Amino acid sequence: MNQTQKKQLAAKSALPYIPSGSTLGIGTGSTVNEFIDLLPSITNQIESIVSSSNASTKRLEKLGFEVSSLNSVGDVDLYVDGADEATKHLHLVKGGGGALTREKIVAGAAKQFICIIDDSKQVGVLGAFPLPVEVIPMARSFVARTLVKMGGQPVWRENFVTDNGNHILDVHNLEILNPIEMETQINQIAGIVTVGIFAHRAADILIVSSDKGVTVTTTNDMSKP
Ligand code: 5RP
Repeated sequence: MNQTQKKQLAAKSALPYIPSGSTLGIGTGSTVNEFIDLLPSITNQIESIVSSSNASTKRLEKLGFEVSSLNSVGDVDLYVDGADEATKHLHLVKGGGGALTREKIVAGAAKQFICIIDDSKQVGVLGAFPLPVEVIPMARSFVARTLVKMGGQPVWRENFVTDNGNHILDVHNLEILNPIEMETQINQIAGIVTVGIFAHRAADILIVSSDKGVTVTTTNDMSKP
């Protein structure tokens, strides 16, 4: 199976989790694009859709879906998104596509968060993928210097502006041994909009596709011995 086929498999495996009459939150990225492309087959199950990026909104609208604002729908029943890295504890690194802020907002508003990845994204410890951090433009250098003091090597994602008009620093060489603690710590730096660690609001269900099929891990599995 090539990587596109794996992404398609992960996307398809999320469909049975969509409750009928649901308000659906849609993430961003190539794996989620595969999921979006499957939605016309289940239109009757969807009450409304909220999107995490202009790119996903555009794709959804092209397929004929109307995209609602989060403010107009209240709670989201189910949020489906990909990730750049995921652990067995369902902690994630996200933001490779630069949509981390709206992704974190929609994930936060969702009753359930399903993360769909292929097996190349599964890691023991987060941090090999450079950690995306969205910053207010005037704070970029200050935030970068602070991240250096924390042991990271931030690189400005030049020629990239987020949907919110901000900049991204990709932080290399961080070994994220305690994702909850590091998410809290980085959130304290003035000028940071969002850090791409999703640990406080981790996924509830992780679907991983591989040559062998899919494995599904839920938060309930994590409490098993
Ligand atoms: C975008 C994201 C994506 O979920 C992440 O980058 C994974 O993307 P892909 O499915 O293309 O590998 O966080 O901000």
